[in-house]
Amino acid sequence: MHFKRMSIESESPEEMGYASIQYNLAESSVRDIYFRDLQINLDEVFLCYAEHRGNIALRNEIVKNEKDLSADDVLVCPSAATALFIISTTLLNDKDHLVVLRPNYATNIETPRAINCEISFIDLQFESGFQLDIEQIKNAVKPNTKLISLTSPHNPTGVVFDNKILEEIIAFATERNINVLVDETYRYLNFQRDMMPYYAAKSDKVISVCSLSKAHGTPGIRTGWLITKNKKLQHDFLAAKEQIIICNSVVDEAIALHILQQENYLQKTHEHIRKNFSVLKNWMDIEQHYLEWIRPNAGVVCFPRIKKEYTVDTKKFYTILYEQFKTFVGAGHWFEQADHYFRLGFGYPTEEELQQGLKNIDASIEASIVSS
Ligand SMILES: Cc1ncc(COP(=O)(O)O)c(C=O)c1O
Repeated sequence: MHFKRMSIESESPEEMGYASIQYNLAESSVRDIYFRDLQINLDEVFLCYAEHRGNIALRNEIVKNEKDLSADDVLVCPSAATALFIISTTLLNDKDHLVVLRPNYATNIETPRAINCEISFIDLQFESGFQLDIEQIKNAVKPNTKLISLTSPHNPTGVVFDNKILEEIIAFATERNINVLVDETYRYLNFQRDMMPYYAAKSDKVISVCSLSKAHGTPGIRTGWLITKNKKLQHDFLAAKEQIIICNSVVDEAIALHILQQENYLQKTHEHIRKNFSVLKNWMDIEQHYLEWIRPNAGVVCFPRIKKEYTVDTKKFYTILYEQFKTFVGAGHWFEQADHYFRLGFGYPTEEELQQGLKNIDASIEASIVSS
C-alpha cells in the first residue's frame, strides 16, 4: 500500500495550530472538553492489556438501546478512522471493486485508493439535494464489487439519507452478497429527531461505524467501534485489530464507558446545536446573499457553495478568511470538490463566534469577487 497525506488532515485546524484560528467553523464536531469536565477518578484502572474486542461493559453500553444487537457484535477500535481502515484493508484487495459516495470523509476514499482497488464514485449533486440515487448505485455494481460504502448522517453535507432508500440498498446488497459499510459517525448528532437503530442490525452484510469524536467532545480519547452481526467478519476484523494494536488503551476505554453511562450527557450539546443551527438558518436564508445551501438535517456541518453569478477568486477568499479574519472553514478540495464549495461547521463555535465567523465569510467573499 502507498499512503498519501489527505488535505483534510494536513490542512486541519490541529495541524494549522488552533491558536491561529479565532472563529473555527471548520470542525465537524462540537467543542472539545477537558478531562476535568468529566469528574472521573481513574485510580482503579488497571494498566493491563485489555480484552481485545474491547471492554465488555463498554461494548454492552454501546448497544444498550439496540434490541437486535449484542456486545458480541461490537469491536471497539481506537477511533472510527481505525475502524474504517480495518474494514477497507480486510474487505478489499487490488482485484476488487468498491462503490463509494463522493464527497465523503476522505479516509473512506483514500484507504481504498491506497489498496489500489477499482472504485466507482456515486457523486452526490447539489442540484439533487445531495440525495442518493438508488438506480445509480445498483448500476455501479459489478461482479467483483465487494463493498458499497455509505455515510449517513453524511459528511460534509449533513444530509441524512432516507431510511427506506438505505434499507433498499441493504436488501439489494444482501441479495448480491455484497458488504455495506454505513459510516454512522454522526449518529449522536441527530439533534432534530430520535436516534435510529444502527444499520448493522438490519443484515449481517452491514457494518456500522461510530465513535465518541463528534458529539461527545472527546476525539482525543480516540475511541470508536465497528458493529456487525457477521461472525466471520468479526473474526477477520479482530485479527486485523490485533495486528495493528492488539487492544485499545484501557484509560481511553474507562473514559468512554464513563461518558456513555451518563444518561443526559448530550442534552446541553443538542441545545447548543439547535441554537446555532437557527443562527445559521437565519443567516443563510435571510442575511447573506452570496451563498446557497442544502439544509442539513443532522450533524453539525453543511456544504454551501458560492452562487454561480459571483465569480470569486477562491484562493484569495480562503487566504483573506484565514489570515485577515482568523476564520477557518473546510475547503471544497478537502472533499474532492471545487473550492467554491466549503464545509461549514456550526457545532464547534460558541453562538457569538458563529455569528462573527459568518460575517467574516461574507466580508471575505466580497473582497474576493473578480470584477468583470
Ligand atoms: C464520516 C466520518 N467517519 C469517520 C471519521 C473519523 O472519526 P474518528 O475521530 O472517530 O476517527 C470522521 C471524522 O471527521 C468522519 O467525518
